[in-house]
Amino acid sequence: MLPDNPTLEEFTRLLNALGVSGQLDFSNAKTPEELEAKRIEYLGDQRGKLREFQIVLGKLAKEARPEAGRQFNAAKAALGEAHEKRRQELAQASTGPSPRPADPSMPARHQWRGAKHPVTLVIEEIEDIFRELGFTTVTGPEAETEWYNFGSLNFPPNHPAMDLHDTLYLTGDVLLRTHTSPVQTRTLQRYAPPIRVLIPGRVYRRDFFDPSHAPAFEQIEGLCVDEGISFVDLKATLTRFANRIFGRRPTRFRPSFFPFTEPSAEMDVQCGVCGGSGCAVCKQTGWVEILGSGMVHPAVLEAAGVDSERYTGWAFGMGPGRIAISRYGIPDIRILYDSDVRFLEQVAGQVIE
Ligand code: PHE
Repeated sequence: MLPDNPTLEEFTRLLNALGVSGQLDFSNAKTPEELEAKRIEYLGDQRGKLREFQIVLGKLAKEARPEAGRQFNAAKAALGEAHEKRRQELAQASTGPSPRPADPSMPARHQWRGAKHPVTLVIEEIEDIFRELGFTTVTGPEAETEWYNFGSLNFPPNHPAMDLHDTLYLTGDVLLRTHTSPVQTRTLQRYAPPIRVLIPGRVYRRDFFDPSHAPAFEQIEGLCVDEGISFVDLKATLTRFANRIFGRRPTRFRPSFFPFTEPSAEMDVQCGVCGGSGCAVCKQTGWVEILGSGMVHPAVLEAAGVDSERYTGWAFGMGPGRIAISRYGIPDIRILYDSDVRFLEQVAGQVIE
């Protein structure tokens, strides 16, 4: 306690002690309210601790008063500064994120976990259907030689598909495969019949990127080679497949041509939009083409070292992207390449059974 009539030494000692404890109290204040209470305690006009020293100051011996007054003013200024410094610190902290107590009753935020791409979903569905019929999946390289992509598949030299305008060449006779059919040759070279394989993969053609074309797209190929395989097997298997994937929609086979199949046929399914009466989607024909197929040409079997007198087979190729488009009502195939999660999320929400 401050005596009523202290010496200058006592006054100085007690004033210094007050200064130290005041600085400590200010810097320990945790909230603006705590700090304000401490300000009143030390600097308050009426009952503040500093106020007592001011009162005592007037009672000091006359010679001691100037020095005591100087010390009092310095102590008051130092405490004022310490208070202001802490006030600013607390004000700054309160503008940051205030810790909010957790609310355990709050519903969890929806989590987007990603989903399979619609083309992947269609490929997996096709694989499931053919797996029941004994087909396994194999893959091959996207960079191919001219021989695998064309020569082994009975393309005559100078076939238009080999033109620079249609095919993307890398170097020399290496190119980006234009279809998955070269993997037929690779499979026939590697495994002995009976062979039943599906070959999904990306293929490349010099095409514009527009609502119905892409220079890179997915294909899925099928190949079946064994003794005694006939066109009946082709028709029965592909019709069963179409019924599984398109429901009861009628299908038809149309004669066609591919260098690597003989005879060749394209399979159509009745247009799902107009039900066969003709619309813009099916170009007024009532039918939508879904795949190319045919009996494996003996020259293809021979090129791969398979005895074409003993073995026969059939093959097909189709674009799962096209099936995805009609399945999910996608108006522009470029959407399939955007990886826009708003689109993928919509498809992921649909259950395919
Ligand atoms: N490879 C052909 C294409 O890309 C499709 C096909 C595959 C046709 C197998 C017949 C047999 O158009």
